[in-house]
Amino acid sequence: MYCAREGRRSLLVDDCEMTPMKIKYTVYVAATLLLASSSAFAAKMAMPTDAPASYDAECASCHIAYPPALLSQQSWKNVMSGLSKHFGTDASVDAKTQTEITGWLVKNATTRQKYSETAPDNRITKTAWFIRKHDEVRSDVWKRAGIKSASNCGACHIDAAKGNFSENKIQIPAK
Ligand code: HEC
Ligand code: HEC
Repeated sequence: MYCAREGRRSLLVDDCEMTPMKIKYTVYVAATLLLASSSAFAAKMAMPTDAPASYDAECASCHIAYPPALLSQQSWKNVMSGLSKHFGTDASVDAKTQTEITGWLVKNATTRQKYSETAPDNRITKTAWFIRKHDEVRSDVWKRAGIKSASNCGACHIDAAKGNFSENKIQIPAK
């Protein structure tokens, strides 16, 4: 086959010979890369940019503002309907704020099958996926002064408040 640019082939694309076979291969490679990046994205439960100010004001003073994609719709409804008895504290808010926060959490709840179970005791930390993902963390590590509780995501996931739980954003406090 004649090719004007023979001799100075690019390493990436040999555009002289884009045969159907090669095009197929290129599409395959692109699809594979896309898949790889979307599975890396699994660790990013990005905090939506449209969080109402009330979410930060009412839900981020005792712990991080948990990204909504950490729980299912039903779990968020359960959390939000029990705020007066919230893990040993009273986290209740007025009715208008309650509607606003609940609506936003439910709208942004997880859509992934993998994370969709109804959380036991309304805890992210009691879901099967959470336990599985953390099975390498020894029980004494959770109790370190710099961590105290599994609910304290930000102690180890330095970008937890942004919803980034990637492996390269983890620093476990030594004590
Ligand atoms: C007065 C303090 C306080 C406020 C305000 C508060 N929380 Fe909490 N929250 C807690 C405590 C304490 C825990 C249990 C933490 C632990 O076990 O270490 C908790 C746990 C949680 C958990 C479960 C974490 C886990 O273990 O998986 C969720 C979800 C949660 N809070 C959501 C909210 C939401 C939504 C709001 C706002 C409407 C809110 N919280 C406001 C104190 C508070
Ligand atoms: C003691 C430190 C620690 C705390 C606290 C902690 N994690 Fe993790 N987390 C880890 C480690 C270690 C891994 C495993 C990393 C790996 O193997 O990819 C992990 C993995 C994860 C993953 C999976 C990431 C992936 O690449 O698939 C998610 C999601 C996650 N944690 C969310 C949370 C949330 C939400 C909280 C708080 C409710 C939390 N973690 C609290 C240490 C911690």
